[in-house]
Amino acid sequence: MALHSFHPLICCLFLFTASMVSAQLTANFYSQTCPTAMSIIRGAVSTAISRERRMGASLLRLHFHDCFVNGCDASVLLDDSATITGEKTAIPNVNSIRGFEVVDTIKSQLERSCPGVVSCADLLTVAARDSTVALGGQTWNVVLGRRDSTTASLARANSDLPSPFLDLPQLITEFGNKGFSPQKWLPYRSLMKSTARCGVFKTRIYNETNIVHHSHWPCKNCLNRSDLILHPSIAPLRPFR
Ligand code: HEM
Repeated sequence: MALHSFHPLICCLFLFTASMVSAQLTANFYSQTCPTAMSIIRGAVSTAISRERRMGASLLRLHFHDCFVNGCDASVLLDDSATITGEKTAIPNVNSIRGFEVVDTIKSQLERSCPGVVSCADLLTVAARDSTVALGGQTWNVVLGRRDSTTASLARANSDLPSPFLDLPQLITEFGNKGFSPQKWLPYRSLMKSTARCGVFKTRIYNETNIVHHSHWPCKNCLNRSDLILHPSIAPLRPFR
């Protein structure tokens, strides 16, 4: 069974452990309880990216899609169950977010070293940072000690994750609702240089006159597709280094 299908159990284990310690986020949260946590995550991220470079981008996005829906609580990882409906089938996520197998691998490695200690939310947080660094981006400090959610919100995932069809004023409003000024989030928007399905950007290319056609937009995967259905074929927006 894939690990992400029994995350609630792992999450409960973590909640139990975490309830006994400080709720304050700190940089060295696992230094006593799981001193190998950071190196385990960094190593597994590096292995995953060496197998598939895009995975670094996918892990970063997974963290973003987790945090924008009720905070960074790993709810994005939860599968549907008898009691909850997960966020994986939300419109911005379905057939789009990826990297769950890598998260499962990292979580398995963490559980072998330090059972029930490292939260999935912290795993995602560190993996996003390590992915960015592994792809040549800047590093940043993370504070840790997040607790995992035992529930998820499909409705909030649909309403809170920004749609690719929003214009700039709408994006400013959406990010403002989460406490981000344009100065803070616009640089992150430029991180989006991995891949996207044709349906989420082709209207911008073919129907807009006010656009610079750039030679490194190899949209050949999208050519001859007049439908607006989110076609699963993807096209690189900009090549990886
Ligand atoms: C400004 C609002 C944003 C919108 C509307 C948006 C929308 C999208 C869309 C439509 C895709 C392609 C999905 C697909 O075709 O399946 C995508 C990919 C991606 N986004 Fe965003 N995004 C936004 C902000 C962000 C932010 C803030 C980050 C980073 C923190 C980010 C990181 C990424 C990455 C890394 C990918 C590529 C993922 C992969 O290749 O697996 N995005 N985004």
